[in-house]
Amino acid sequence: MAARFFSSQFFLSCQWWQKFSLSPQTTTEGFYILLYGYWTYGVFEKLGIPGPKPVMYWGTVARYNKVHYLDDIECAQKYGRVWGMYELRRPMLAVMDPDMLKQILVKECFTYFTNRRNLRLNGDLYDAVSTAEDHQWRRIRNIISPFFTSGHIKELFSIMKHHSHKLVLCLQSKVHNDEVIDIKDFFGPYSLDVMASCALSVDMDSINNPSSPFITHATNLFRFSKLLFAFQGCFPIFLPVLDLLGFSFFSKSSTAFFKSLLSKIQAQRKGSACQFVISLSVATGLTDHEIISQATMFVFAGFETSATTLVFVAYNLARNPDVMKRLLKEIDATFPNKAPVQYEALMKMEYLDSVVTECLRLYPPIPRLERLAKETVQINGITIPKDMTVMIPVYALHRDPELWPEPEVFKPDRFSKENKPHINPYTYLPFGAGPRNCLGTRFALVVVKLALVEVLQNFTFSVCEETEVCKLLSIITIIRPIRPIKLRLVARSTTSGNVDKCD
Ligand code: HEM
Repeated sequence: MAARFFSSQFFLSCQWWQKFSLSPQTTTEGFYILLYGYWTYGVFEKLGIPGPKPVMYWGTVARYNKVHYLDDIECAQKYGRVWGMYELRRPMLAVMDPDMLKQILVKECFTYFTNRRNLRLNGDLYDAVSTAEDHQWRRIRNIISPFFTSGHIKELFSIMKHHSHKLVLCLQSKVHNDEVIDIKDFFGPYSLDVMASCALSVDMDSINNPSSPFITHATNLFRFSKLLFAFQGCFPIFLPVLDLLGFSFFSKSSTAFFKSLLSKIQAQRKGSACQFVISLSVATGLTDHEIISQATMFVFAGFETSATTLVFVAYNLARNPDVMKRLLKEIDATFPNKAPVQYEALMKMEYLDSVVTECLRLYPPIPRLERLAKETVQINGITIPKDMTVMIPVYALHRDPELWPEPEVFKPDRFSKENKPHINPYTYLPFGAGPRNCLGTRFALVVVKLALVEVLQNFTFSVCEETEVCKLLSIITIIRPIRPIKLRLVARSTTSGNVDKCD
């Protein structure tokens, strides 16, 4: 790319700068600025990998219009299942080929693709399991994994039920006269309260205190600075300086809030041994700093992802009354007369599982995964150079019409007991895959399914005038609707009678 720039007609055209009365020194500086802006852009051409044309400094980000993962769909249509792109100046190899994904995420995880890219600006969360690397990551992941086994999650079920019950009470008190609600106002605090209770052993009761600082700080953890992201992307050379100066993608005041809260909890050691921070404090070999980071990460990784999933399930059910009707039947058959929800029975509900699974296909909260190549390696004949970020466009993969016929349609039966065995696991990645997949998969599914069943035992969702067709917003971390999803909740008088009402 640089060579092409040097030899361009524009550059060689004799003393063009004189026309603009620029001094030779300014011209040289300008030239270096231009050169720097283009420097990295020849990588994929050399490797023979197709992809969209980058724009100086902006790379291929300039194409994104509004939502970067929608652009992934366009690129996949144009270039196939492997293409090269540039996030500002940083080359990224997009891979959507299931065979390659198996190699990258599973077979070569410990050898070449152990880590995500680490931009270093993690502030106090530098040792959270999601950002830690290599040996430190394996050590921490091994220590905290037992917390996420089904046996342990079952122990936490009564804590979750305490919060799902509060969610239903809160909806009952607010939903008078078929009132229209912003569904996130309820599922957000529910998810946060579950995370806080299970991870930090505190009952924040944010469902009844919507203006609590806990909600503000947990939400702020997701508000990455776009300016900082753009600056480090254009000038990665300054990353060590930014790190030294204490710049961080995670809000400093919010991480400080969690740090001080957790230090107090740890000192008091109040709560049950099954709660995350307490169980880690008992001789696990983690340092105090590592424990605080894992507990903060728990809230960070679990809160928005689970809440967003619940919001999208409610939205899809409201738009698909037939699906909701079938789900209500399953719920009423499993827990007759609003019987209390039991863990084993909940986990065995097949249609509920299909509904949640299909929703995560259409709206995977994390639309892109990534791994960093530690060394140059060949995967299925494609050379991936050392330090290259491999980006996995999950959103586009889940809407690939060759893999998912009628990809835009919400069809839970794709994941029925009969159809499930025919699905290639590397075409469906809402929780990632391999040794570095989502640690909280099981936990999240219980949190989501429990809330859905308890809410649907008491209400049905329906669309109303205020319900807009959901458009997505591009943010650096997770998928979010641009505008709040407004739905009407209708109270169910009896469990079976209402089933007929919703068609
Ligand atoms: C519906 C909810 C959730 C979704 C869709 C989700 C999705 C994901 C995805 C896609 C990844 C990256 C996986 C990869 O790179 O292969 C991830 C990582 C992670 N998730 Fe989740 N997640 C959810 C809920 C949770 C919850 C509730 C927790 C904790 C309680 C959690 C803890 C983590 C952790 C610790 C990682 C990093 C794992 C590592 O680097 O070793 N997640 N999640």
